[in-house]
Amino acid sequence: MPRFPNVSEHAHSASHRVYSNLEQRALAEKQHIYRLHVGDTYRDPVPAAQAERQLSSEHPGLHNYAPVHGEPSLIDAFIAYVEGRHGETLNPDLVQVMSGATAGLSVVCQVLLELGDEVLLPSPFWPLSRGVIATKGAVPVQVPFYTRLDEPGFDAEAVLERAITDRTVALYINTPHNPTGRVLCGATIDAMMRVAKRHDLWVLTDEAYEEIYFDREPPDAVWKRADIRDRAIAFHTLSKTYGLAGARIGFTHGPEGVMNAIRGMQTFHTYCASRPMQFGAVEALRQGGAWIEESRSLYRDAGYQAADALGVPRPEGGTFLYLDASSQLDPGAVDCTPFLERCADAGVLLTPGRSCGDDYAKWVRLCFTSVPPAQLAAALQKLAPLFRTPIA
Ligand SMILES: Cc1ncc(COP(=O)(O)O)c(C=O)c1O
Repeated sequence: MPRFPNVSEHAHSASHRVYSNLEQRALAEKQHIYRLHVGDTYRDPVPAAQAERQLSSEHPGLHNYAPVHGEPSLIDAFIAYVEGRHGETLNPDLVQVMSGATAGLSVVCQVLLELGDEVLLPSPFWPLSRGVIATKGAVPVQVPFYTRLDEPGFDAEAVLERAITDRTVALYINTPHNPTGRVLCGATIDAMMRVAKRHDLWVLTDEAYEEIYFDREPPDAVWKRADIRDRAIAFHTLSKTYGLAGARIGFTHGPEGVMNAIRGMQTFHTYCASRPMQFGAVEALRQGGAWIEESRSLYRDAGYQAADALGVPRPEGGTFLYLDASSQLDPGAVDCTPFLERCADAGVLLTPGRSCGDDYAKWVRLCFTSVPPAQLAAALQKLAPLFRTPIA
């Protein structure tokens, strides 16, 4: 049947959030705008990794296609990184370079999911994860989770178990976590993995913040667990670890059967990740150890400063605070918009909580790494009175 002038059903799931109204409000006050709604960093990456440092004289065919699999030097550098960080040696044939973790998740979902399949998405979640799943015609099943971890009697296994249907094919897990800043403990991950094994689910493990954890030992990666290694597909990215979000470089690895299919599907997505930035990524992986250490310390200070200023628990990792703004809203408010508007009037942009899950309409997200420390301090000075004064 002809479709013109309509678009496909699942394209409707790709709504993009527009901040322009809030931005216009902030601009109307003619003041500096603090963009704490963007999940990024104010830090420049190590010089050798920067785009302007990649030279045709050093890399013949710099602007040609790269191999679909990825540049061999980049795969080697990633394997060396994983050995250092996780103490595991990956088989290079089972590593695929991706145009960032977003494209990685998209390719993997395309490989795994049929129309109507369900993916358990513990919420709140990284906003794009829901859209990536939905644009494949699959159903992201939102399970309030990370904000409930400290509730007495919270049973991680039972809440996920209740969400299982005969269409459930995968469980997405992210730790350290966007947006709550939580690092899942071993017992919670055990509980989640029991559900995955019991129901033969794929485990999609998002390692975006694997280097951003505060005042604790490096968290153990989920994909390393021997009992789920045959079903775990891991996503890594240079966006957070090395401050290279615009480079669009990430990695996916998993068991043999699925990696062949992933490589095949990758051919039809972006074919390969940006070749010049793959060379930059090699340098980040080789030289970025000190950069990671420094960032971890700066981000920890920023995260703690933000939490203390706003009177909420300090983050355990990641780059966000996720805040319940319901006491700053009239009882009749349907979502956090009035509060976001007050913040915008004060010059600070935050993310609506609903972008991280339908159950979080009255929450807001703040990124504490998107602006330098002095700007963060100024933004917090504007925000603190708004957060600390409940609506009468
Ligand atoms: C949990 C999580 N996964 C993946 C990504 C996206 O990574 P990339 O920039 O590599 O697409 C983000 C970005 O904010 C994220 O928070």
